[in-house]
Amino acid sequence: MKVAIIGGGPAGLYSAILLKKQRPEADITVYERNRADDTFGFGVVFSDATLDNFEKYDPPSYRRITQEFAYWDDIAVHFRGTVHRVGGNGFCGCSRRKLLLILQERARELGVRLIFETEIDDEARFADADLVVLADGINSHFRDKYAAHFQPEVDLRSNVFAWMGSTRPLDAFTFIFQETEWGPFIAHAYQYEAGRSTWIFETDPDTFKRAGLSGLNEKQSADRMSEIFGWFLEGHPLLTNRSMWRNFPMIRSHRWVKDNMVLLGDAKATAHFSIGSGTKLAMEDAIALADALHQAPTVDAALMLYEQGRREEVEKTQHAADVSLVWFEHVDRFWDFDPVQFAFGVMTRAKAITYDNLTLRAPEFVGEVDKAFARHVRDQGFDVDVDKPLAPMFQPFRLREMTLANRSVVSPMCMYSADEGVPNDFHLVHYGSRALGGAGLIFTEMTCVGRDARITPGCAGLWNDAQEKAWRRIVDFVHANSAAKICLQLGHAGRKGATKLMWDGMDRPLEEGGWDVVSASPIPYFPDSQVPREMDRAAMDHVKAEFVAAAERGEACGFDMLELHCAHGYLLASFISPLTNQRTDDYGGSLENRMRYPLEIFWAMRSVWPSHKPMSVRISATDWAEGGITGDDAVQVARAFAEAGVDLVDVSTGQTVRDAEPVYGRMFQTPFSDQVRNEARVATMCVGNITTADQVNTILAAGRADLVALGRPHLVDPAFTLKAAAWYGAKDVFSPPQYLPGKDQIFRNSVRDRQEFEELKIKAKPKTRAELKAEATKPLAAE
Ligand SMILES: Cc1cc2nc3c(=O)[nH]c(=O)nc-3n(C[C@H](O)[C@H](O)[C@H](O)COP(=O)(O)OP(=O)(O)OC[C@H]3O[C@@H](n4cnc5c(N)ncnc54)[C@H](O)[C@@H]3O)c2cc1C
Ligand SMILES: Cc1cc2nc3c(=O)[nH]c(=O)nc-3n(C[C@H](O)[C@H](O)[C@H](O)COP(=O)(O)O)c2cc1C
Repeated sequence: MKVAIIGGGPAGLYSAILLKKQRPEADITVYERNRADDTFGFGVVFSDATLDNFEKYDPPSYRRITQEFAYWDDIAVHFRGTVHRVGGNGFCGCSRRKLLLILQERARELGVRLIFETEIDDEARFADADLVVLADGINSHFRDKYAAHFQPEVDLRSNVFAWMGSTRPLDAFTFIFQETEWGPFIAHAYQYEAGRSTWIFETDPDTFKRAGLSGLNEKQSADRMSEIFGWFLEGHPLLTNRSMWRNFPMIRSHRWVKDNMVLLGDAKATAHFSIGSGTKLAMEDAIALADALHQAPTVDAALMLYEQGRREEVEKTQHAADVSLVWFEHVDRFWDFDPVQFAFGVMTRAKAITYDNLTLRAPEFVGEVDKAFARHVRDQGFDVDVDKPLAPMFQPFRLREMTLANRSVVSPMCMYSADEGVPNDFHLVHYGSRALGGAGLIFTEMTCVGRDARITPGCAGLWNDAQEKAWRRIVDFVHANSAAKICLQLGHAGRKGATKLMWDGMDRPLEEGGWDVVSASPIPYFPDSQVPREMDRAAMDHVKAEFVAAAERGEACGFDMLELHCAHGYLLASFISPLTNQRTDDYGGSLENRMRYPLEIFWAMRSVWPSHKPMSVRISATDWAEGGITGDDAVQVARAFAEAGVDLVDVSTGQTVRDAEPVYGRMFQTPFSDQVRNEARVATMCVGNITTADQVNTILAAGRADLVALGRPHLVDPAFTLKAAAWYGAKDVFSPPQYLPGKDQIFRNSVRDRQEFEELKIKAKPKTRAELKAEATKPLAAE
């Protein structure tokens, strides 16, 4: 077998090593344009888990790599004169140059041919090769040459960064967030060998310009960074080596394989440096390629297997890197946070690290986070314990004169079980049991303001006396038997009206018994859906009056709060989104115009809704579709509602158009709540695939929302909040007297369960290499 490898970086060299081990008879050559010991870059970083992988695949190179490594466990976050350290992270740093020399040496030993100072720009010379590995890095010539085939997408991110070095010793992965007269600068720094550390500096393009960096050469810009971070560098110099400021290219390729050529490492896909996974991905690509060649009978089949098997893992890492880079791009959102909350946000930015997970590793740090959260709550006038604070989920929250005992919310969920809009015993039991389960706030399902405002024939409504009486019964039950508050969500289905019950076909038009539907513009949802009538002024006035009448009935029922549903493609959402609003009058065109009718309705309702009671709006913060609403638009929408007097923005997404492409995942809508809350400066509730109390606490503690709603989890577990309270020891959680023996039991058992769980977790966690090294070098006298 003959293999040509273009590029002698980590991907190229490691694949040469693994292939040669697998097929000692193979003729393998690596072509590298640089000299063997050229030193571009400073250090690279690997997690313990990545090193475990290297140990398994090639013990000799693993041993040499690990002999050269600097180990550390802590992440340190410096912000506004404070430093917060979190242990148990298990990282290792190594000089990129040494890593490459080790891999070169190992490849030579195995009989790989290494040819340096040879730039390859045409693969024709490898016509007799069975396999050509394209490991030519981030600016891959071959990816560009065959762009029509590989279909790369390059997303050049807005922040600029430069990679430098220093002699400053560091004992932790160090993030420094530095305020300057020009704006914020960030340093990501770690030691990779004795007396050498990597420093990546990052800032936004405006700060970069204001700091005059665009006109400076490498040395001058290093001097500027030395001035900014001088207090930390303590006289140590910054070193440069091709340390140009650049924008990070987020690269994704639709195809990785062309004939017998395969893209590896940065050439095929990149991951932002803030999660330190570039070299890991490159070397794990090499592992995946070797595995595929081992398993498949032919090179063609192996390349297909490599691409199929590896893509999901790469995309997962890229997603984590994306989330992380977006956090750094928007760091100014959090600049006025309490430093410990800021540090918690840094730690939990990419979802993998959570509140509970940090509680195990760094209980004092989480204790401080809880205290800061409780202090903030106390500053809002609550008499809460700041010395022994409850977890954020169990801290109270106030909107106008409505006080919530905790921040766990039952999301609005249509039950499709009403008859002519009248809620019945099912609804009483449904809402009643969730209120008994301990949530601070319960939302009703979308309650329709008129018969023709319904989504389905089973939707609940509030346009007549019978409905009012039935809702009053539910509200009275909740108030008499629980500590929960109850919010009425009012809405109008618009073009998604006259459709089947969820279990008969979501959003599918009724075959019989339907009614005429209206919308901002006459665009049907499905091609075979009813074409809605474009609302004229008379229709708009009619629906506005329905909303006002329903709000008045809501007050008569005794609801504590009112929400206007402006999300999910229903009537008011259809005005806001440009995909569904193509009007040419004052209600179409600019976002300001598209907001006009929803705001009109909001004002009309606000004027009849008692001023001591809060109101919220639910919005779709993105349409997940080309040309639709984006997170930035959502900030404008939230600002407009906040100016109109909205107390809370309930941040959902999508369901506007049927061909949307949402990116699902854990807590997938939370970034939008974060953006709206911290840019528009309005209280938010987030929702969407949040399934654990740990996630609720993580979101709240990081300041990404004020309330957290759970929909589907509450459908199967009405007592979600009570159980979480037992876990976190929030003894004051409400439980009706009838249920107190159950409450006593779960609180008693939870203490033991939690202890056992934590012990198990701690036992199951292998020692990090940093811990092992510290133990091995501990002086005997200390034993
Ligand atoms: C600022 C910054 C910080 C980073 N920090 C980290 C970190 O902390 N941890 C981490 O793991 N990763 C980090 N990375 C990423 C890491 O450097 C890369 O992801 C990794 O080196 C990718 O390996 P590779 O083999 O795919 O590409 P490369 O290392 O870029 O290697 C490609 C090689 O191909 C050669 N080449 C290119 N074209 C040709 C050609 N036509 N003919 C012959 N040779 C060619 C190049 O000279 C180069 O040696 C960082 C990157 C940047 C930019
Ligand atoms: C069956 C069902 C009915 C829903 N009904 C409503 C509703 O009436 N009003 C609303 O704003 N959202 C409604 N939603 C959306 C939920 O409130 C929630 O935002 C969504 O389910 C995501 O949260 P989850 O992952 O916690 O379930 C509904 C969702 C489902 C699955």
